[in-house]
Amino acid sequence: MRVVVLGTAAGGGFPQWNCACRLCVACRAGDVPARTQDCLAVRADDGWYLVNASPDVRAQVLATAELAPGPGPRDTPLRGALLTDAELDHTMGLLMLREGGGLRVSGPPAVLSALGTVRDTVAGYGSWDWSATPALPGLTVSTFAVSDKKPRYAAASTEPGPWVVAYRIADPATGGALVYAPCLRTWPDGFDEFVDGATCALVDGTFFAQAEMSGTGTSTAAQRAMGHVPIDGADGSLVRIAKHPGTRWCYTHLNNTNPVLDRRSPEYATVRDAGVAVPLDGDVLTV
Ligand code: MLT
Ligand code: MN
Ligand code: ZN
Repeated sequence: MRVVVLGTAAGGGFPQWNCACRLCVACRAGDVPARTQDCLAVRADDGWYLVNASPDVRAQVLATAELAPGPGPRDTPLRGALLTDAELDHTMGLLMLREGGGLRVSGPPAVLSALGTVRDTVAGYGSWDWSATPALPGLTVSTFAVSDKKPRYAAASTEPGPWVVAYRIADPATGGALVYAPCLRTWPDGFDEFVDGATCALVDGTFFAQAEMSGTGTSTAAQRAMGHVPIDGADGSLVRIAKHPGTRWCYTHLNNTNPVLDRRSPEYATVRDAGVAVPLDGDVLTV
């Protein structure tokens, strides 16, 4: 199975347009590589599927030769998208894809419900298929309920969860399996078993530390409200990752405050020394 890591930043991207924090300034100066909002492309038997549709999807497709259109003037190898949640950084790209007819989009029922306006909007451009059951021809997809964390725009929704899921995509031809979990509020019960034996797992690396947004002009309360397990600390993800040495681990969905963005930082060294990768946009995984 071929997987292109199209984007690796959290909502807002890196640098974020309205942010002048130390890291965003270093990025604009060319000292730290820029990143688009997290999204994957996975190759199935009938073409490519996105896992999440970031607001940067147009630039991501243009940067990826395998996603180029053709041979017919409006042929595209893109067949659809799987959604892990309804957050804007994972769904706004659907509107950018409106010129493509016949895409198949799947996600949990609460997510499809929250996207009602997007679905109605896209319906005016082309007929898409929306389904609660993910299907990638030639691959096996399993879904893990991560949390009931709702996007802020859907705070009043009474839809039952899950609002956030993780996917495990297995390739029977290679025996390989990939786990994608860019939004983890905590390390959920049962997630260790879900990941067990996976070749590769890309997980939430939004924040390195519990209170990293204090001191950047944004607050610790704002960070807590965003609801992402930090990398570091006794309740962090790194100690949980250490229990699965057979899996190739990667952090994605990096917030612009995360010092791991800068490979010269001690925090990056901590992650690297634990054997965890921090892929850049455009990196390819073979699973
Ligand atoms: C998140 O990951 O917490 C959300 O995407 C935040 C946002 O709205 O950008
Ligand atoms: Mn996000
Ligand atoms: Zn910033």
